[in-house]
Amino acid sequence: MATRAVCPGSYDPVTNGHVDVIRRAVQLCDEVVVAILHNPAKSGTFPVARREQLLRECLGDDPRVRVESFADTLLVDVCAQVEATSIVKGLRGGTDFAYELPMALMNRHLTGIETVFLPGDPAFEHVSSSLVKEVHRFGGDVSGLVPDVVLAALREAIPAR
Ligand code: PNS
Repeated sequence: MATRAVCPGSYDPVTNGHVDVIRRAVQLCDEVVVAILHNPAKSGTFPVARREQLLRECLGDDPRVRVESFADTLLVDVCAQVEATSIVKGLRGGTDFAYELPMALMNRHLTGIETVFLPGDPAFEHVSSSLVKEVHRFGGDVSGLVPDVVLAALREAIPAR
């Protein structure tokens, strides 16, 4: 049976930390579904279609990776829908672990699906979508923390001071 992992997130927008984890997830299974989970009642910074487009541009044409979005859905239902065999998430440190562990346990409780945690690259330990947006908004330099296409998208979406 083919192994398929889901890499879930808001990806608003994708960062170099996300790209690193997704690329390493691809080494562990046959296929990765990068799942954008979103709440239509909250618009976010980037429209979901733009988040999808940026992810596809950053991840290139790898046939083992596909990007899809899901509105108002439990992650376990996404996993069932795409027939995933695991969930893969990156951990930047202990705070991420404390946040992620109950969700991993709950997801296993609900359907038995396992979560695999990958240690994030320490070079991106301080990188999150929300911090990147805040630093950019106030005129800080976030190049090297997000792919170049995302940097351009940030400049379009959020005029820096
Ligand atoms: O990029 P984020 O914001 O850290 O992603 C969080 C996300 C979307 C993966 C998480 O909130 C999630 O799994 N949401 C789906 C709803 C759900 O299944 N909630 C119960 C989790 S046990």
